[in-house]
Amino acid sequence: MRHNFSASLFVMILLAFASPGSRAQGNVRDAQGHPWYQHAVFYEIYPRSFMDTNGDGIGDLKGITAKLDYLKALGVDAIWIAPCFPSPQVDFGYDVSDYQNIDKMYGTLADFDKLQTLGKDHGVKIILDFVVNHTSDQHPWFLDSSSSRTSDKRNWYIWRDGVGKNAPNNWVALFGGSAWQWDAKTNQYYYHYFYPQQPDLNWRNPTVADAMYGTTEWWYKRGVAGFRLDAVDSLFEDPDLKDDPVLPGINAYGDPNVDHQYTQNLPEVHAVLKNLRTVANKYDAVLIGETWKDTVAQMGAYYGAGHDELQMPMDLMLTKLKFSAVIFRAHISEVNATGEWPVFVIGNHDIPRSWNRYGDGSHNDEIAKDMAAMYLTLRGTPIMYYGEEIGMQNKDPVRREDVKDPIGKLGWPKEKGRDGERTPMQWSDEPNAGFTTGVPWNVIPDAYKRYNVANELKNPDSILNWYKQLLALRHTDAALLKGDYLPLNENDLNVLSYLRKTDGEAVLVAINMSAVQQKINFDLSKTGLSGKPAKTLLTNQASLRNNSSVTELTLDPFAAYIAQITK
Ligand code: GLC
Ligand code: CA
Repeated sequence: MRHNFSASLFVMILLAFASPGSRAQGNVRDAQGHPWYQHAVFYEIYPRSFMDTNGDGIGDLKGITAKLDYLKALGVDAIWIAPCFPSPQVDFGYDVSDYQNIDKMYGTLADFDKLQTLGKDHGVKIILDFVVNHTSDQHPWFLDSSSSRTSDKRNWYIWRDGVGKNAPNNWVALFGGSAWQWDAKTNQYYYHYFYPQQPDLNWRNPTVADAMYGTTEWWYKRGVAGFRLDAVDSLFEDPDLKDDPVLPGINAYGDPNVDHQYTQNLPEVHAVLKNLRTVANKYDAVLIGETWKDTVAQMGAYYGAGHDELQMPMDLMLTKLKFSAVIFRAHISEVNATGEWPVFVIGNHDIPRSWNRYGDGSHNDEIAKDMAAMYLTLRGTPIMYYGEEIGMQNKDPVRREDVKDPIGKLGWPKEKGRDGERTPMQWSDEPNAGFTTGVPWNVIPDAYKRYNVANELKNPDSILNWYKQLLALRHTDAALLKGDYLPLNENDLNVLSYLRKTDGEAVLVAINMSAVQQKINFDLSKTGLSGKPAKTLLTNQASLRNNSSVTELTLDPFAAYIAQITK
């Protein structure tokens, strides 16, 4: 009896974890306790630049739908689409004038529904970009708020009197100038952390907060699988308007450098994240954070003390590190030591392309492959940026008059803006890289003739095929999906090596991050393994394809080697 009882209890517990209706920390989990987003590969799409289907030179939702086969074959499980909502496009969509619609230039809500339905068929979930900090100054909420001091919506934004003829305090906008914009109609200033056309919402007003939570629910009901939360750090400002401390020097816009002590990272944000999470949990949705942090500890706070805030705060620190085995090892170990689920990112629409950033100027393709070998085999969820898988490169404007991103005009020449990392996806070597039959909204780098999807699909050694193989491996190998991260050879200055290990299997990854051949030895005895035999899973060094032991390896410059170890 006793035996039967505990056995059936065990089965009940198993079922509770495995059944789709179960909830643990608000998410449906697989039999090993992993929610869906931990096994998914995410891919950021900048919709203006992905694929144009109507010849206006601007990408659209139908274009994304047309490329679902490509995304599926690449190994993408979820796409994050940068804002595609109605917008005056001052900040290319990050100035939203209606949270519950699609901008005409991108299509219609019906196009969106179609993308989502077909996405479902392809196993590709849709993540939208929620611009939580501010709206467009053309949003009906702001039009109402700015119409009079007695408007019902006055308190939806942050309005203050000036001090004499001056702004209320010294706060500066991230995109240049004072963060206070004078409104002659109502004789007050409003606050904007970004452009003046992006007034900050007043998150201290519970009606605003409820409207925003309701917006996420509206999209979840439509089938959206989660949100990337834009600029979460800037939701709150000091209510007493204390001046931000001034630092030495001036920035690209000619403003004094300041420490955004009273305009960034205020603790109030955590209550908002908890509330957003409560809504997300009802739909098994994921919240990804644009969390620009200086330390792993700061990033850690965004998961929430009770794991009740963001499931996926992005590790954007990785984008600032130099390409180096030593530097990466230290960071990865620190991140893994927290026990949280990491979210690795190497590029996005705000920073120069990873190919340029990590590249040394002469081995950029090899380095791009090394970066992929690393962040696609680490413990955690990767978020790719479109075009990174084909080695897309930055194409910065050379003349101020060619700049499209307003910060590039304001900050020229120190700040050239972000056009360079937002160029159209390179589909083929046809005119305009196969992106449009019209005039593309942004320039296309000359390198497209070589770096494009069609060419790279044909070349077994291309960056694209390297990504495809890595992603296929990642989806099928249990150790890569859920294994622990165990650093190896921690004193090696050139080769980054680690094990991903479950109880039943281990995968060894070794990446030579130097331009010199490296001999390495592995002593795995501490991990209970001998390293013999080893089965090569993937390598870009031909001589290692049939290798069967990892006790000693010679790695060519920038070569990567991945092997399964059973003993
Ligand atoms: C985020 C976006 C960036 C945008 C800014 C203002 O940083 O990634 O592109 O300009 O927020 O919304
Ligand atoms: Ca179009």
